Amino acid sequence: MPIYSRILGTGSFLPPKTVRNDELAARLAREGIDTSDAWIVERTGIRERHFAQDDVGSVDLGEQAALRALQSAGVAAGEVDLIVVATSTPDMIFPSNASLIQARLGCPGGAAFDVQAVCAGFIYALSVADQFVRSGSARRALVIGTEVFSQILDFSDRTTCVLFGDGAGAVVLGPGDAPGILASALHADGRQSGILRTPGRIHGGRVCGHPFLQMDGQAVFKQAVHVLEAVAREVLDKAGRQPGDVDWMVPHQANIRIMLHTAKKLGIPPERVVQTVAWHGNTSAASIPLALDAAVQAGQVRRGHTLLMEAVGGGLTWGAALVEY
Ligand code: UT7
Repeated sequence: MPIYSRILGTGSFLPPKTVRNDELAARLAREGIDTSDAWIVERTGIRERHFAQDDVGSVDLGEQAALRALQSAGVAAGEVDLIVVATSTPDMIFPSNASLIQARLGCPGGAAFDVQAVCAGFIYALSVADQFVRSGSARRALVIGTEVFSQILDFSDRTTCVLFGDGAGAVVLGPGDAPGILASALHADGRQSGILRTPGRIHGGRVCGHPFLQMDGQAVFKQAVHVLEAVAREVLDKAGRQPGDVDWMVPHQANIRIMLHTAKKLGIPPERVVQTVAWHGNTSAASIPLALDAAVQAGQVRRGHTLLMEAVGGGLTWGAALVEY
């Protein structure tokens, strides 16, 4: 009998402080930077985002999301034998967020590592954990996406600082008799690393280069609409399913225009697209598990539903997963 992997539970956590577009615009205006709620809503769909306090890191957020996912799955922390964390804003250069979260949860001994694929990170982490569970190498895997992008934003750059927010989401994977993760596909094109990056690094105790997020938004937009439709069709084909079989699309929440354009190309109606970008902004690797948990909590996503997850991010990286929840 083959082993399959299933999502046993979901959880998420948002730092309590919200920043509405008009509040952010007022803050930027004090620095002589012009933006508006109307521009941000029209171009992105974002209305507000959550920002963590300065002393809160992605380990703090990820730990809370993990605890909630474990509770929803009915799994004790001590049973966890794999932690994969997707993040581009880890607490430290090393050890990994996964090791730090493992220590917080009190479940030493299993494998723990981070995956760095920026906004596609959760799809990468889910696919990796799925392969551990299906091979029998892990029985209770925590897959966490957690980010504090507010801490790498350049608040003098209006083209990026209005787009991102902080948060964390998590799922617990475990073995099942029937497929849960039906198919996944991962891709990257390193030649396009320049269009979305945070190019700073530490050298000799100093920060070298530019330690803030930079993006050529139009270039990423063009790539996104192209690769997301293609990778969505790839996982549907792999699983022998049609777009009409999808109960919910749970896309990366970067821009409502990209999400709805991709859905339209696939023939998925907008009311079947989980939409949290208005309230979360772009939380990078955290956005899909945050959206998934919000939809589970709202009673939209239910057991047996077929979910299409897709994301694109810096690297350029992209991927999709078709999941029976
Ligand atoms: O999560 C990883 C994946 N990331 C993405 O998928 C993001 C992809 N890109 C996008 O979502 C969009 O390209 C943005 C939301 C970043 C930008 O939207 P756009 O419709 O592509 O706008 P644009 O870059 O073409 O800029 C239009 C205008 C420009 O002014 P001019 O040259 O027409 O006079 C910008 O300077 O809007 C201006 N602008 C702003 N105005 C007010 C740019 N940022 C702002 C701002 N407020 N915050």
